[in-house]
Amino acid sequence: MSQAHEYVKAHFEQFKGQLFDLLRIPSISTSVEHAGDVERTAQWLADDLQRIGLHTVEIVSTPGHPIVYGEWIGAGLDAKTILIYGHYDVQPALKSDGWINEPFEPTERDGHIYARGSSDDKGQVFAHIKAVEAVLANGGKPSVNLKFLIEGEEEIGSTHLADFVAANRAKLQADVCVISDSGMPTPDQPSIVYALRGILTMDVVVNGPATDLHSGVYGGSVHNPVQALAEIIAQLHNPDGSVAVPGFYDDVLPLSDEERAELQKTAMTEAAWRQATGAPKQWGEPEFAIHERTGARPTLEINGMAGGYYEPGFKTVLPAKAWAKISCRLVANQDPEVIGTLVRNFIMNISPATIHTTVDVALGGPAAFVDIRTPEMQAAVRAYEQGWGKKPVFMREGGSIPVVSEFQKELNAPVILMGLGLNDDGAHSANEHFMVEMFRKGINTAIYFYEAMGAGE
Ligand code: BES
Ligand code: ZN
Repeated sequence: MSQAHEYVKAHFEQFKGQLFDLLRIPSISTSVEHAGDVERTAQWLADDLQRIGLHTVEIVSTPGHPIVYGEWIGAGLDAKTILIYGHYDVQPALKSDGWINEPFEPTERDGHIYARGSSDDKGQVFAHIKAVEAVLANGGKPSVNLKFLIEGEEEIGSTHLADFVAANRAKLQADVCVISDSGMPTPDQPSIVYALRGILTMDVVVNGPATDLHSGVYGGSVHNPVQALAEIIAQLHNPDGSVAVPGFYDDVLPLSDEERAELQKTAMTEAAWRQATGAPKQWGEPEFAIHERTGARPTLEINGMAGGYYEPGFKTVLPAKAWAKISCRLVANQDPEVIGTLVRNFIMNISPATIHTTVDVALGGPAAFVDIRTPEMQAAVRAYEQGWGKKPVFMREGGSIPVVSEFQKELNAPVILMGLGLNDDGAHSANEHFMVEMFRKGINTAIYFYEAMGAGE
């Protein structure tokens, strides 16, 4: 066991305690009331990066939430450089969503750490911070340069990160970018993600009468905006679950027979799907398997919809307004801008003259693909083999990490999606958790990866 791995063994309980402190700060990026907490989290991370011995640590303000940057470049100009990306912001969470413990009071139960952000992504990015702490400890001098870029806006679409990356190409220059912000199907079989879906989001607002009206006095003469929105939404899918927007699938690349066969190896069983979702029955495009529907097919989802009176009791109102939040997951070669326009135009075309509809599209980013034949990927494969005692398999994931394509474009460096979570960690959901063993193996695997890159393997 190397000195760094010994260090992890000796300090693991301390690492866990620190992660608990990090998880206590409710860094919910979408919530204006939590902006101070988001900032406090950036400061907490910067302090920890400073403490573990990085040469430069900065908190960079943006028009939104700050970016934390840190680097240790003691290996010299000829050595390889690893850029580690993660995000410290989290999705909203309330105890009343069905949490057993308070979402920002971490608790350990049955080998899992329960807290919002434990898996997505504080626990995963913290595994790297502790891995770097271990390689730098006791005067350690890794043979690879290490840079951290940790943002606070990933869960709201990485709004200001693209500008930062484009403006700081030289500073961020790296031979490889590592992102631990995804999951594996099971803790015993390591896997590396090679494809993520892209994303775009939109706000749809339907306005009807100038104000809420008495439904007895005007009902029957006014097109109810909630009903009209439901009618629009009902036309967005075909009965078989496919998206009904003309042209939506035009640029989708079909899966090759070879890739289909390879992906079949990591297919989720129906029982596992039922366990993970709690939904009564599977749904979606019948000609595709579940893992193909979630990994290799684009979708259109209604993330939320509201309008009218929904407090306890009853109010016979004809509401003035209804709205929906819709997102599309995209696959290669779909262009977010093109798809956003197609969906917006379709919604506008099917909106009747009895209402007024607006559609605001926000672009997330395109789907991302990672070349699995690079030497850096081979180093990652070996690191997983050492960390898990088992060769990793490659798989697609349905989630999105907008910065991946940005790194590929601006830094021209390969990206490794070194996910350390599990698919059933409950990310974005109630009782999110991170398996303690994944945290431990993650730290050790990250160290093996830095060593492999440093050895120029
Ligand atoms: N960690 C996820 C991305 C992810 C999820 C990767 C599942 C692989 C599997 C990330 O934090 C996330 O949730 N991203 C958002 C991005 C969006 C808000 C632009 C997503 O996918 O919804
Ligand atoms: Zn997330």
